[in-house]
Amino acid sequence: MSKTIHLVYISLSGNTKSFVSRLKTYLELKSDYPIETIDVKELVKDGQTFMAMSDYFVAFLPTYLEGGNGLDTGDVEILTTPLREFIAYADNYRYCYGIVGSGNKNFNHQYCLTAKQYAQQFGFPVLDNFELRGLADDVERIGEKVLALYRS
Ligand SMILES: Cc1cc2nc3c(=O)[nH]c(=O)nc-3n(C[C@H](O)[C@H](O)[C@H](O)COP(=O)(O)O)c2cc1C
Repeated sequence: MSKTIHLVYISLSGNTKSFVSRLKTYLELKSDYPIETIDVKELVKDGQTFMAMSDYFVAFLPTYLEGGNGLDTGDVEILTTPLREFIAYADNYRYCYGIVGSGNKNFNHQYCLTAKQYAQQFGFPVLDNFELRGLADDVERIGEKVLALYRS
């Protein structure tokens, strides 16, 4: 049976959701892998318990930090903690190939900082990053990285 590509994400204002949707389309064009997307915000909203993963997944995390400069202040995650809880749940982190951070470069040192914090906490790599909704180049570059992981 073929592996399934699992894309796990959280999105508050829709940018990451849009990126993951375009990435799914790219991956469907470029491979025969079945693709499953898991929207952690929807799981929380529906009051569902998190599932224990038994297949590898890639996580997508926008950055929402309390105001600061990302150096000595402003490294406190807000709004996206359900994704951290999903990754910690039932040791799901063991199946995480890595995380793709997103954010806005106007935040300077805080750009994509939370993805780096998750990588440090759980011991998986930051695979890449993109700004806001991401461009076609980002979809292609990250899509190829995801495919390389599942083909390895
Ligand atoms: C309150 C707030 C705080 C934010 N903090 C950061 C930040 O610290 N670093 C960063 O790179 N982007 C930051 N952003 C930008 C978001 O990460 C960016 O808009 C992202 O694309 C949102 O993804 P989403 O639409 O999937 O929720 C912040 C946005 C908001 C509204």
